[in-house]
Amino acid sequence: RQKLMQYNTIDDAANLLRESKNIMVITGAGISTSLGIPDFRSRGTGFYDKIRALGFESGEDVFDIHMFDEDPSIFYSLAGDILPDQQRYTPTHAFIKLLQDKGKLQTNYTQNIDNLEELAGIDRARLIQCHGSFATASCRKCKVQVSGQAIFADIRAKRVALCKTCLQNPPAPRPQKKRKHSKPRKNGWEDSDDDESSSSTAYDIPQPGVMKPDITFFGEQLPDTFFNRFTDHDSPTVDLCLVIGTSLKVAPVSEMANHLPQNIPHIFISREPIEHVNFDIQLLGDCDYVVYELCRRAGWELRHEMIPEE
Ligand code: OAD
Repeated sequence: RQKLMQYNTIDDAANLLRESKNIMVITGAGISTSLGIPDFRSRGTGFYDKIRALGFESGEDVFDIHMFDEDPSIFYSLAGDILPDQQRYTPTHAFIKLLQDKGKLQTNYTQNIDNLEELAGIDRARLIQCHGSFATASCRKCKVQVSGQAIFADIRAKRVALCKTCLQNPPAPRPQKKRKHSKPRKNGWEDSDDDESSSSTAYDIPQPGVMKPDITFFGEQLPDTFFNRFTDHDSPTVDLCLVIGTSLKVAPVSEMANHLPQNIPHIFISREPIEHVNFDIQLLGDCDYVVYELCRRAGWELRHEMIPEE
């Protein structure tokens, strides 16, 4: 997209907020870091650096669906760090709620899985959790869905959560025609093959499925509501795009801003600048402070206690 030349300053941004009626807000992990929740890619403090320090090649592997199916214990040993246990939300969440109260919030597309938008009072109907959330969890085998809370104790204990439904209603064991087993032999145990004429039948004991929080892993589809809402509802009608606290490294969210009509102004608020999308205005700094200043200049009162710095 081409930059619109008429918008440059923070006052232009405040004016755009005042004048716009249908604002799309795209958020990322940076809007929750003031609560002590790590983001993913900040050097030193991000969740992925911590994972790499533990010897993993790439932090993103923890959220890879194929890796999860192969060995869910990796995810379960680390997910406690990003489990939502907050009863507080940030001034930036309060700012998005303020846009809603003023009738200006069209949709908040969040990449966050901490569910704090709900705590802040953002309407479910205006919220798209692009990467799902910990609010529910599903069995990889029988697909039953339960409240996310049901597996929080396992996540905190770093224990793989198994499906209670599978455990209660195990499918009938399948007899095996032929299987290897071990027989006691001199000098230890030795493998041998049973043939079909063997008098005893061996059974495959069915294993319960593993529970997975309904967060979208790499290799999984985003929810249909994401594509439907963006294409049919928002893209034709939004008049301002606000992107806050994200590195915009993960598609398809990283592509959204480029798929809006050319004349829609784009504002970016985050600690680090972005070069791969042409924003009209980039306001760099801690987003809680930036949104306060924007509200002050727009003549709005943002009521929320600033979270003290550690
Ligand atoms: P990132 O960690 O990639 O980016 C967060 C950005 O926010 C960084 O560029 C920080 O500089 C900035 N930031 C941090 N704290 C801030 C603050 N207080 N004020 C302003 N900016 C701040 O996180 P996301 O872009 O959200 O996927 O990551 C996108 C996706 O990648 C996540 O949803 C996650 C991950 O893989 C899943 O959970 C499946």
